[in-house]
Amino acid sequence: MKIIREFIAKTLSEEVGFPSERLLGMLKVPDSSERGDLAVPCFPFAKALKDKPENIARKLEGLFSGSEFFSSVRPEGPFLNFTYAGPVLAARVLPEILDNEETYGSGTEGAGKTVVLDFSSPNIAKPIAFHHVRSTVIGAALANLHEARGYRTERINYLGDWGTQFGKLSVAFQRWGDRDLLEKEKIRHLLAIYVRFHKEVETDPGLEEEARAWFARMEKGDAEALAFWRLFYDISLAEFRRIYARLGIRFDHFEGESRYKDDLERTVEKVTETAGTVESRGALVVDLESEKMPPCLLKKADGATLYATRDIAAAMDRWERFGFDRSLYVVASQQTLYFRQLFKVLEKMGFAWAARCHHVAFGMLQLADKTMSTRKGEVIFLDDVLDKAENLSLRAIEEKNPELADKTAVARQVGVGAIIFGDLVNRRTNDVTFEWERILNFQGETGVYVQYTHARCCAMQRKAGGIRKELFDAKLLDRPEEKDVLKSLGRFPDRVEKAAADLDPSIVAKDLIELCRAFNRVYNIEGYRFLADEPALCATRLLLARSVALVLRRGLSLLGIEAPEEM
Ligand code: ARG
Repeated sequence: MKIIREFIAKTLSEEVGFPSERLLGMLKVPDSSERGDLAVPCFPFAKALKDKPENIARKLEGLFSGSEFFSSVRPEGPFLNFTYAGPVLAARVLPEILDNEETYGSGTEGAGKTVVLDFSSPNIAKPIAFHHVRSTVIGAALANLHEARGYRTERINYLGDWGTQFGKLSVAFQRWGDRDLLEKEKIRHLLAIYVRFHKEVETDPGLEEEARAWFARMEKGDAEALAFWRLFYDISLAEFRRIYARLGIRFDHFEGESRYKDDLERTVEKVTETAGTVESRGALVVDLESEKMPPCLLKKADGATLYATRDIAAAMDRWERFGFDRSLYVVASQQTLYFRQLFKVLEKMGFAWAARCHHVAFGMLQLADKTMSTRKGEVIFLDDVLDKAENLSLRAIEEKNPELADKTAVARQVGVGAIIFGDLVNRRTNDVTFEWERILNFQGETGVYVQYTHARCCAMQRKAGGIRKELFDAKLLDRPEEKDVLKSLGRFPDRVEKAAADLDPSIVAKDLIELCRAFNRVYNIEGYRFLADEPALCATRLLLARSVALVLRRGLSLLGIEAPEEM
């Protein structure tokens, strides 16, 4: 609870002469809740106050004796321990949530600032493979979290839609392509002929040369060459859009590498003038030896430009258009070295804003699933994964709640939610293995568990038929289990702030799990009834449950997940 932390810091600041900011950083949550909810270590004050930490802790206790925030303030050795008063938390937190249903957790530290997010960014003519899912869901959640904290966001899908591979694909399509099949199978057909190209080139090396020549024509703007590219582009993008709709994810811009195809000469010149370039075996590179990195390749010996050239042009363009405070690249950790090179080149070009560019790296995703196991080199289609998640959810719902009205719609929300949450609950930088049993478990650290707890709260509200808000009495929420729920509700905005600052949605995902656990502990108290007979007790408990539902719904929505009211 920020407001209580700030109160403690301010009170101490006046006494010990440390700035509030510094004191805020010193507050610790004790390992065991028996010690209290918050502790201040007093060692750092010893010098200023010329006394032993134990004595200081005892002296400082008096400062808080009259405060309504705490049920107890106790010195313990060199620590001063604070225990929140449940009812005061309730009186502060619940109205805050109930008056800000749609916005609780929002903040203003991002006001007037802009964040550019480059995420998902799949490659044209290739499927959005299952491993693209991480960039997509992490990027979308980070955009939502920043928006909630007041930032303006620009969501960019930087499609991989330019490069020598389109020369290969065009050659392959002219030999083995089939327009009817393309209409029917779409990206699957493009993938098949692309794979065939790589097989045939082993016995027919001339294909490579042909592809190179074809891409050179594309780079020169040749209409015939570009027509094929356009065909691949349109088909792929329509597919991508369909999948983003399934996931409920939106972008402000679909602008891929090809956007920069006419700027590349100028970009290379500019790099040469500023950072400096050298020729290396016919290729043009920026030497990064002094930075202990391999050179950054701008142009191949045959004149073709590269991924890095286009990223340099894109970064400059984004700066010119958006004047960002943060520019985030949500891309797998395999590209860590690449982004270090990219940002270094931008820095060498003299752009101070290079320091605002960040590679938001994430670990690998694996799917543990025998039924979908693939031979090496084969890709798993995200589409198929989503189908399977929805089917499994439907089966679970049919078992648990056969009476439910719109089972398919709920199964969709649960299935997609399981995939998204199953990803986001992991620390961003960790590798992730998906196991179906785990991500669809009603009890584990899953989206289903959060959705189910939310639906449970909603069911209570329906059953009650309405809450007599005027009967709310914070004093009635005095059980330790209830206090844990209140604490969890109260710190939600801080968690949203931290998740945006640390660029890690798992901070919010984990917090939602804790809120659910705390809530279910109340739910399971022996003899505890939300629909209590006594009217004030009933209204107050229902408002607690309603607040839990609102925070769960809000948290899920920030993560990009829907919250069905019944399931
Ligand atoms: N299309 C690339 C890939 O699939 C990701 C692009 C990431 N963004 C960027 N600005 N380089 O690997």
